[in-house]
Amino acid sequence: MNILILHGPNLNLLGEREPEIYGRTTLDEINHELKKRATEFRSEIRFFQSNHEGVLIDQIQENRKWADALIINPGAFTHYSYAIRDMISAFAKPVIEVHLSDLSKREEFRKHSVLDGLLNVQRIMGKGADGYYEALANLAGAGL
Ligand code: DQA
Repeated sequence: MNILILHGPNLNLLGEREPEIYGRTTLDEINHELKKRATEFRSEIRFFQSNHEGVLIDQIQENRKWADALIINPGAFTHYSYAIRDMISAFAKPVIEVHLSDLSKREEFRKHSVLDGLLNVQRIMGKGADGYYEALANLAGAGL
């Protein structure tokens, strides 16, 4: 299985950014662990981080034929980017939306995700870095 993994804005600062909310694991550490686990699942992954909405959309477009599934943490775009919602809807293959923090326990504006209601999207949140590993297992492990 081919899985595209996208990290949105400010996630490049994981480890130093509000560690009491997002944890101390860096993005490099998460990506390294994902790569290791993907190999165990005999899956291929491509990962990418951007602070820019259009660049994330370009990544989904460019990988849309290659990818069988998508794991995405859209960061703050979760709450207002209808352009990312449209692209994920058009992608039409399984998607897991991952959030390190539990959005239901934070500020009001974080309680709404533009991906709500999309039938191809599941959500894992509040599990820190483990949420990414669970997402990978749900997608790639299902085929074992
Ligand atoms: C986040 C939650 C978002 O509200 C926030 O803007 C982020 C990270 C999370 O992983 O918990 O950048 O997606």
